Amino acid sequence: MTTWLNRIYCEDALQGFARVPDGVIDLIIADPPYGLGKDYGNDSDKLDAGAYLRWMEEWIDAALPKLKPNGSLYIFLTWRYSPEIFVMLKQRMTMVNEIVWDRRVPSMGGSTRKFSSVHDTIGFFVKSRDYHFDLDAIRIPYDAETKKARSRSIFVGAKWLEMGYNPKDVWSVSRLHREHRERADHPTQKPLEIVERMVKASCPFGGIVLDPFMGSGTTAIAARRCGRNFAGFELNAEYCGLIETRLEKLTAEMSAVQEISSEDRCISGE
Ligand SMILES: C[S@@+](CC[C@H](N)C(=O)[O-])C[C@H]1O[C@@H](n2cnc3c(N)ncnc32)[C@H](O)[C@@H]1O
Repeated sequence: MTTWLNRIYCEDALQGFARVPDGVIDLIIADPPYGLGKDYGNDSDKLDAGAYLRWMEEWIDAALPKLKPNGSLYIFLTWRYSPEIFVMLKQRMTMVNEIVWDRRVPSMGGSTRKFSSVHDTIGFFVKSRDYHFDLDAIRIPYDAETKKARSRSIFVGAKWLEMGYNPKDVWSVSRLHREHRERADHPTQKPLEIVERMVKASCPFGGIVLDPFMGSGTTAIAARRCGRNFAGFELNAEYCGLIETRLEKLTAEMSAVQEISSEDRCISGE
């Protein structure tokens, strides 16, 4: 029985993985502490560099057997540790992309002895060459003006022109500042736009997304909005409550809207 499905367990991911059978997960979206000393109401982000990298390796080795043979992993990191962690992952999986999330941080003075860091690094890894990837679900439509400018006869009818272009590996999406309508009470909540793109591209409709570090539950929200299942863990009990509240609100909205109809769409608005 899949009692672990569509539930968030308020526990350490290292314990939680034991609940999930091997080889059943389509997609892992992992947004672990970055090793930068953030306060998540626990000591999870307070490890020194050596201990942090050992912990990363420990959970990665516990998580990867859960993936299906054609499964994928996206991992959020910073430039500080992404080199070491990418090397670690490349010994276990095939690296497909390094995605740069440009957080669209406004210019306000910033660092004076180095360049201001305004991006997160996301690694996209797969278990095998026949990994699931639904490009059509994540194409970016052209606006009418650009479409018109590209309508030379050789382009007419081209799929990329009609359905939109293939997203590049720099994703420019605003961070969730305090006033943002999506914002929940979590210090490093990720935008739905980013997580939904991962879900739509790399998890089939009705498939399962596992997030070991749920935080405010963005992956669970994205999965439910897009007609996928989720499973996940979160250490902090307050954040677990936050996730339940977000999911309840979404359920109410979805039953009101009843708009989740096709494989490549997610409901609009949170
Ligand atoms: C970067 S945040 C995740 C944010 C999330 N992606 C979102 O959009 O809200 C990392 C989260 O992992 C949790 N965490 C840290 N260590 C953990 C562990 N061993 N098991 C489960 N959760 C953990 C922290 O409490 C924190 O909420």
